[in-house]
Amino acid sequence: MDNTKTAGKQQSIELISRGGLSHIAFIMDGNGRWAEKRGMPRRFGHSYGAAAFKKIIRYCGDIGLKTVTVYAFSTENWNRPEAEVNSIIKLLSDYIDECEKSADKENLRVRFIGDKERFDENFRTRMARIEEKTSQNGLSLNVALNYGGRAELTHAFNTLIKEGKTEVTEDDISSALYTAGQQDPDLIVRTAGEMRLSNFLLWQAAYSEFYSTDVLWPDMSEHDIDLAVENFYKRKRRFGKV
Ligand code: FPP
Repeated sequence: MDNTKTAGKQQSIELISRGGLSHIAFIMDGNGRWAEKRGMPRRFGHSYGAAAFKKIIRYCGDIGLKTVTVYAFSTENWNRPEAEVNSIIKLLSDYIDECEKSADKENLRVRFIGDKERFDENFRTRMARIEEKTSQNGLSLNVALNYGGRAELTHAFNTLIKEGKTEVTEDDISSALYTAGQQDPDLIVRTAGEMRLSNFLLWQAAYSEFYSTDVLWPDMSEHDIDLAVENFYKRKRRFGKV
């Protein structure tokens, strides 16, 4: 590791230890463009994207974050060509296998957020097993799978209606979301230069800071995380106050 990277890491650790930033959510965008730029099929972009994801999660833990959420597969992503959908699902399935093997070694508490009903029983059982096996671990990782913010809110409202509620509070809604009991993200990072939420964490993002970088997700590095952290600490978060 060169000196610039080391300085960045120490700075991130120091900044995060001051508080205020404990949860980053990532919109991992640009896998397709990364592959197309290299004349490769898009699935290679997702494959390199999965490698970047593992590196970034480890780094987020190293610098002291408590929670990381990643947008791995949206409710809209099913509309992509079947081969591409299958390649992403295969990467996720491989990741579940890896988690199964490393549950005791890696300090990761893995949770899957999204509508799991769309997946077959075997896939759902494996997700549940990982959630259970890692439930006592430290760094929380939320993998958003078949996730859509509107679908999540609709699901939450229907849950509350089924419970017999005729009037709801903000706390009722928060506790009926897939992320119930977890802190909202302090920072949402989107790669590949886009400035949209794309139906991600619509409720939870109410007061999140948003950071966009031109870096394509498979190229995302530890240094890019340091830049996002540094940028976050230059902001003044006011939560609607003066
Ligand atoms: C967006 O890039 C990315 C996705 C739709 C999939 C994200 C999935 C991964 C990074 C792999 C997940 C694997 C694990 C293990 C979590 P895009 O394809 O929309 O890129 P483009 O906008 O350049 O076309």
